[in-house]
Amino acid sequence: MSLLENCNVLVTGGAGFIGSHLTDYLLGKGHGVTIIDDLSTGSLDNIGHLLDDPRVKFIEGTILDPELVEYFVKKCDLIFHLAAVVGVKNVVDFPRHGIEVNVGGTEIVLRSAAEHKCRIVLASSSEVYGISTDIPFREDGDRVLGPTNVQRWSYAASKALDEHLGLTYAADGLPVSAVRYFNAYGPRIQESGYGSVIARFMTQAFSGGNITLYGDGSQTRSFTYVADTVRGTYLAGTHPDAVGEIFNIGSRVETSVRELATAICKLTNVKPVFETIPFEEIFGSNFQDIGRRVPCIDKAEKLLGFVPEISLEEGLKKTIAWARKNYKSANSTHSK
Ligand SMILES: NC(=O)c1ccc[n+]([C@@H]2O[C@H](COP(=O)([O-])OP(=O)(O)OC[C@H]3O[C@@H](n4cnc5c(N)ncnc54)[C@H](O)[C@@H]3O)[C@@H](O)[C@H]2O)c1
Repeated sequence: MSLLENCNVLVTGGAGFIGSHLTDYLLGKGHGVTIIDDLSTGSLDNIGHLLDDPRVKFIEGTILDPELVEYFVKKCDLIFHLAAVVGVKNVVDFPRHGIEVNVGGTEIVLRSAAEHKCRIVLASSSEVYGISTDIPFREDGDRVLGPTNVQRWSYAASKALDEHLGLTYAADGLPVSAVRYFNAYGPRIQESGYGSVIARFMTQAFSGGNITLYGDGSQTRSFTYVADTVRGTYLAGTHPDAVGEIFNIGSRVETSVRELATAICKLTNVKPVFETIPFEEIFGSNFQDIGRRVPCIDKAEKLLGFVPEISLEEGLKKTIAWARKNYKSANSTHSK
C-alpha cells in the first residue's frame, strides 16, 4: 500500500543495479526522480533509457559533497539512499574508501534528511548478520562478526553503523527505515562488476561451462530477483508501519552456490565442469566466508505485505535472456 503520490524522490546510487530498477519502479508509480551517483560502480547504461525523461534528473556527483546533497534533499519528499561502496571484493581491496563512503556518506545524507524532515530508506545488507548460525536471520537476532583485521567485516560494520545512526534519527522523529538486502540479481547485473556470483556463473556458462566455485560451493544464499527487492524497498519507503523499522528483503528459498551454478548451466544448455578455488586465493589469507545466509521475512510480510513473487528459475531465465544480449561473453564462440 502506497500512501504517497506524485512525490519528488531522491535516489542516491540510482545509476547502480538496484537503484536503476528502483528508479524505473518509482516512475511507474507516478513519481519524479533525482539521481545522485558518482558512477564509480554504476553506469549510464543502466539509466540511458531514462535520460530524456523530463521526470528524471541525473546528477553525476558524490554523496560525500554535503552542499550537493543538501541542495537536492531540500527539494524532495522521499529519499532512497543506496549509494555505497558495494561488494566484498571492492571492500577488501579499498577498505578505507568503503568506510568513508558507507559511513561518512550516509551521515551526510541522514543529516540533510533530518534538516528537511524528509522520509528516508537506508539500503543495508544481509552481511550485517555475519557468521551468525541463527538461521533464518531475523531482524532482531544477534549479529556475529569476525575480527577487525579481516577487512570484509568493515562492510557489515559500516552498514550496521548506518542502521544505528538511522535509528538515532528515527528516535528524534525522522521517518527512517532500513532494508537488509539478500543477494539481489536480475538484468543489469554487471558482467565484470564487483563479483556477483550470478554474473560470474552466467559468464562462465556462456564461455562453455567451466565453473569456478569459491570454497566447495556448499555455502548458501537467498537469491532475490531485483523486481522483488525493489518492491520491498518501495514498501519500506511508503508504508506507514515501516517508519523506524528494519526489514529483511529477500527470498525464503535457500540455494547453495553449487545448485545455483547447476541451474544456470541447465538454463544455458551447457554441462558444468566444476573447479574449486579456496577463498584465500581470491580474497587474501585471512578471509572468512559465510556458510548459510537465509532471511526470515515474516516481519516484512506482516507489516508491509511483502512476499517475493519471482522464483529462482523464472528470475534466472529473465536474467540470462538479458545477459545474452548484453554480455561480451555471450558472443564468444562457445555460446549459442
Ligand atoms: N545487490 C545486492 O544484492 C545488495 C545486497 C546487500 C546490500 N546492497 C546495497 O544496496 C545498494 C545498491 O547496491 P547495488 O547492488 O545496486 O550496487 P551498485 O554498485 O550497482 O550500486 C551502488 C551505486 O552507488 C554509486 N556510488 C558509490 N559511491 C558513491 C558516492 N560516493 N556518491 C554517489 N554515488 C556513489 C555507484 O556508482 C553505484 O551506482 C548498496 O547500498 C548496497 O550496499 C546490495
